[in-house]
Parts: sequence; C-alpha cells; structure tokens
Amino acid sequence: MDQLVIQGRHPLRGTIRISGAKNAALPILAATLLTGGTFRLQNIPRLVDIKTFTDLLTDLGVAVKYGADNDSDFLDIDSSGLSDHEAPYDLVRRMRASILVLGPLISRFGKARVSLPGGCAIGARPINLHLKGLELMGVKLRLKEGYIEARAGRLNGAHIYFDTPSVTGTENLMMAAVLANGTTVLGNAAREPEVVALGQMLNQMGAKIRGLGSNTVKIEGVKELRSVDWEIVPDRIEAGTYMMAAGAAGGELIIENVMADHLEAVISKLRSTGLQIEVDNARISVRKKGILHSVDVKTLPYPGFPTDLQAQILVLMALAGGLSVITETIFENRFMHVAELRRLGADIKVEGRSAIIKGVKELNGAPVMATDLRASASLVLAGLAAKGTTTISRVYHLDRGYEHLEQKLAAVGAKIKREKRPD
Ligand code: EPZ
Repeated sequence: MDQLVIQGRHPLRGTIRISGAKNAALPILAATLLTGGTFRLQNIPRLVDIKTFTDLLTDLGVAVKYGADNDSDFLDIDSSGLSDHEAPYDLVRRMRASILVLGPLISRFGKARVSLPGGCAIGARPINLHLKGLELMGVKLRLKEGYIEARAGRLNGAHIYFDTPSVTGTENLMMAAVLANGTTVLGNAAREPEVVALGQMLNQMGAKIRGLGSNTVKIEGVKELRSVDWEIVPDRIEAGTYMMAAGAAGGELIIENVMADHLEAVISKLRSTGLQIEVDNARISVRKKGILHSVDVKTLPYPGFPTDLQAQILVLMALAGGLSVITETIFENRFMHVAELRRLGADIKVEGRSAIIKGVKELNGAPVMATDLRASASLVLAGLAAKGTTTISRVYHLDRGYEHLEQKLAAVGAKIKREKRPD
C-alpha cells in the first residue's frame, strides 16, 4: 500500500489545472447504457473510480477504449453490444456509484440485477428514494441474496417527491424516465452541477428534460435516444480542495479550467476567512494574507456549501484565529478526519453533527491514516501546513477522487512524495 510523505510549511506558488469531475463522469458513463451506438467522452479524469465503472460497463458487454489527447483521457464507448443486466457485488461494494446502472438498465432492458451497495464509512447512505421512485414508475422490485432484482415493461411517467434531495437518486430516476411512457416530475430534486450536466447530455441524446438546476425536474418520455460525444465538466470539489491548499500552506495559487459559478458558496465562505480570491473567467486566484479568520460553516445540498469540502475547510479553521462551528447536515458520520487531525495538534471537539474548532498557532507533523476520500484530502492540506513531516497511509482512498494529486502539488512547490509502505 502507498503512503504520502509531506514536509510542511512550504508556501505554494503557481498554477494548478483542474481535471474532469468524477461525480459528473460516473452518471454520464451509466447513461451510455440507454442506447446502442458510440460515444466519445472527453476530459475524463484518470481515477480508480472511473476504471471501476468502465470495468462494470465491460462486464455488461459494452466496448470501452481509453485514449488520451493533450493532458486528459477520453473514452470511446460502444454500448451496442450490451448483453448483461447484472452489476455484481464485488464491483458495487468497491464503488457505490455503480447503483447508477439501475435506472438505465431497466430503461433499456426492462430488467436489472444490481447488488445493494453495502455500508459506507461516512454514513448508512440508503437508496430507498431510488427504489421508491422506480416502483412509482411501475418497476417490480425484489431484494434477494443482497441483490435488487428489477423487472418492468415500458416504464410509466410518475410524480416523485424526494424526502431529501439525492444526487444519484435524481440521476438514476432521470435516466429511468427518459424512455418512459408519459411525463415524470421529480420534486425536491438535486440541483448539483453534475446532475445538470447529465441532464444536458441526455437532452443532447434526444431526451426532453426541463427544469435542470431547479428543484423540480420534468422529463417527457421519448421513444428512443441517440449516442453523442460529450465533454466532462471540471471538478468543483477538486478545485475547492486546491483553493484551500493555498489557505493551509500559504502563498498564491492560480486554479485554471474551473467553473467559478459552481463554487459560489465556497468562494464566499473562503473570502470571509480572509483569503484574497479573484475570479477571472475559467481561472481563480487564491492568495493567503495573514492569519485566517474563524467562520462557521453548515453543509447543505447545492447551491449550499458542499459536504465534499467540509473536511478541507475544517483544516483551515484548525489554523484560524478563533472559534468556529462546522455542522455536517448531509452525512451522519463525516468527521472521521477529526481524530487524525488531533494527532497533528488540532483542537477540535465533535458534538453530534457539529465540530467545534479552536484555532491553534501551528500543527505538527505526525503519521496519520486516511479513512475516506475527502478526509484524506484534508490530511494532505494539514500536512502542507504542519511543521515537520506528515506521513499519510491508506492513500488508496485519495486515488479514487484526485487525479495526480502529488504531482499537481509538487509542481507548485509542495514537498510531497509517494512511497511504498514498508509493510
Ligand atoms: C453524491 O452521493 C456524491 N457521489 C457524493 O460524493 C456526495 O457527497 C453526495 O452526493 C452529496 O453531495 C456521487 O455523485 C457519485 P445523496 P449520493 O444521495 O448520491 C440520503 C465524493 O466524495 N439519502 O445526495 O450517494 C443520504 O443518506 C462522494 O465524491 C437517503 O436517505 O448522496 C444522505 O444523507 C462522497 N435515501 C443524503 O440523502 C436515498 O435513497 C444525500 O445523499 C438516497 C440518499
């Protein structure tokens, strides 16, 4: 297993280019199941989760070919050979987003057998809202030996209301609705840019979806769809992570190939910490000037402050000049990074869904362990800020969601390298 070794307190200077968004690429890969034909998907990030998803597509009989131009991957997908309708447990347990094949397989095939995703470190993450929506559209569901077995004739449009906005729930049901008989309305739908990007690609494929980006999405079923070429949007979570790296390590970073309007809540919050942020089209510059101010943060569904940047801003607050409260309203167990940050000298107390953080003058390097994808990013930020050496084990968590992280940071002055762990 690999580990990252970081020598802290080297201010960052230079430009970091943002990759395509993992959470946009995954549903878009699932959408290729909706029709036969060839898709060229540009700006695909080179990530473990993408590879896991393309392994799943290959298992289903889809032809997948990786290519590369300039500095990103593209994927040529030909789904005319789709021959299976089962997503096996060993793939789903590795990546819960595999559940996104459920809607498209039922739409295309009228049946699907998908393993129930198991538990997850950050929370129970049930999929009851996905299943309730499918049943309202006429899908017969059975749970057998840990698998969801789904059967349906042509789906019927339905009026579905989400108890809580679910990103992959909205995506799954949008993909179930595009070929249904009649109109589907998704109420209290997720508004994330990745959901909007999926809907825009589906419309390009011939779907009739309105209300993307609002909390009511209307899908009028069509008879068939066609394959298209598509470019993946930049990853707003990766961009936010590097903006906060400048806050943790000091210096000045230019983040390029980013969509600033996907980061309004983040930019506003970081400005209140005292970071100097300039937005100029697809580039954001972030400069740290003096001590950070303590601010309170509450994670919310988009366009609120994203839960996927909660662990990262918590590190900034651990170094700020006062007291701050960070409340995690989306997942029930997303403070596992706190125990690791305490090892570096952070002063943080977790009370229920909130972390109370008292800023300290400095953090001191130590060996720490990554527990989940975004928590591991927060440990990198803490290592960049800490005095001395920080060693982060279990970096496989990081490789799921950050493309070339150590190369991107080393190129702007961080002292960071990947090593094989002795064990
Ligand atoms: C997506 O997960 C993202 N993953 C997550 O990113 C992200 O943290 C999350 O949305 C919230 O923004 C992908 O897009 C692949 P949800 P998802 O359904 O869709 C509850 C990362 O780091 N809920 O929006 O699984 C759920 O328990 C990952 O890249 C139900 O109760 O999240 C949670 O409390 C981590 N029943 C809330 O809704 C359901 O049927 C939001 O979950 C579905 C969800």
